[in-house]
Amino acid sequence: MNKPRTTQSNTLVNTVSRRKFLAGAAATGAGLMFLPRTRLFGADAPNNRLNIAMIGAWGRASQHYNWLKHENIVAICDVDKNNLAKGLAEFPGAATYEDWRKCLDHKGLDAIICCTPDHTHAFITCWALNRGLHVFMEKPLAITVNEARTIRKKYLENKSKLATQAGTFRHAFPNVTRVRDMIQSGAVGNLKEVHAWGTSRWAVPSGYAPADGSPPAHLNYDLWLGPSPDHPYNPEYFKYSQKPGLGCQAYNKYWDFGMGYAGDWGSHVFDIAWNALDASLPSKIKAVSSEAYNPAITPLELSAMFTVPANSWRDEVRVVWHQGGKQPTVPAEWIDLEKFRNGALFKGDQGFLLADFDNRVLLPYGKNADLSYFTPKAKVDATPLIPSFFGEWTEACKNGNPANTSCNFDYGSNMIETLALGLAAFRAGSELTYDGSNGRITNNDAANAFLTKPYRSGWIMDA
Ligand SMILES: NC(=O)c1ccc[n+]([C@@H]2O[C@H](COP(=O)([O-])OP(=O)(O)OC[C@H]3O[C@@H](n4cnc5c(N)ncnc54)[C@H](O)[C@@H]3O)[C@@H](O)[C@H]2O)c1
Repeated sequence: MNKPRTTQSNTLVNTVSRRKFLAGAAATGAGLMFLPRTRLFGADAPNNRLNIAMIGAWGRASQHYNWLKHENIVAICDVDKNNLAKGLAEFPGAATYEDWRKCLDHKGLDAIICCTPDHTHAFITCWALNRGLHVFMEKPLAITVNEARTIRKKYLENKSKLATQAGTFRHAFPNVTRVRDMIQSGAVGNLKEVHAWGTSRWAVPSGYAPADGSPPAHLNYDLWLGPSPDHPYNPEYFKYSQKPGLGCQAYNKYWDFGMGYAGDWGSHVFDIAWNALDASLPSKIKAVSSEAYNPAITPLELSAMFTVPANSWRDEVRVVWHQGGKQPTVPAEWIDLEKFRNGALFKGDQGFLLADFDNRVLLPYGKNADLSYFTPKAKVDATPLIPSFFGEWTEACKNGNPANTSCNFDYGSNMIETLALGLAAFRAGSELTYDGSNGRITNNDAANAFLTKPYRSGWIMDA
């Protein structure tokens, strides 16, 4: 369903003039004193706040309430009346919606934060960008290659105006930046291979849950399904919904509702590797798993291998994502990878670096290694740390420099497209060669079908 263009234009006029004020205020402040604008104007000053719609009002959203209280939550949307009420209790006075398509028409919006299930992310992102709204979207940004590419196209068309952030907040952990600096200044020599892994395992159901009862009166199950193909209601999909931020783990393993572990922890852990690489899309993809393709359930155990082309500072590298218990071989047998349940291993021709979100260990090869091959960055040249992942986005929304977020939808869509290509290679069961500029698999025409998925009729992603 699309909305009348006239309403959209009015909303844009209001939004744009308010934004001009926000950006102008920021520029004046910077010109005056080089103080952070929040100190000049006060973080909570009324004209310094964004008008945000919160789409998905509880679960992961509840973990964002505190920082969102520094902005104006003017609209809240949820398909579950109970969850809507929880959001409204935190942000009294906000307008309430059940259908995000109507919520995006709320007058005077600047931005949205979205914490709905994975299968709605690409749709809500594209609709919001099309309506001139800044977007903070929870991970995974998309669940198929085609969704990721559609988001990137929309984002690149709007990047001079709209600030975006994919919710992989661990990206702002200092260690993730430090690992990037070390790799790019040659801590392992010439980089050859990178592995990232997450070891958690979940119970594997055999298929979609069969019909079981009716949805509770407080839940609009039809809107919960949204663009997904129809599946009968079963409380199985909601079994963790009372645990904030864990509800997604009841449904994101099904192809129609997510991309499994690759989109879940993969979004976070693969980022340690991806952030260090300045990578473009892979040219070859291969996947190995002991599991056969199940049309309902994404694989639990998987190693997806990507050939990532060379760039100006490194050669072509082999990048591997492992999940469900798979891990790389460590070049030193006394290192116990069981202690690195989520991590990344960078192998170069001089040594290797083992990292997780908080720790990093550099080991050169050979007993005589002296580290002379490597000049660490001087403190003054080190990449500045990200003081606040959420503040980075709100600042970018306000300060007229919208591309200035570390997980904008160019970076975020490339990363999730790569992980989704790993799942496509798993389905194909053979090595794929990929033309990233056109989004086509070039050696297996039939496998191009795995770059997208079916949607319910009436739902259009880019509208
Ligand atoms: N960045 C992180 O660390 C992190 C952590 C947890 C979850 N997440 C992500 O956040 C999202 C939500 O996860 P969760 O565990 O909170 O899930 P959940 O299902 O428990 O909560 C989702 C919320 O959105 C509502 N909702 C569902 N469909 C909706 C729709 N179409 N429109 C409006 N509201 C809708 C639900 O009623 C609920 O309030 C997932 O995509 C997940 O991957 C990210």
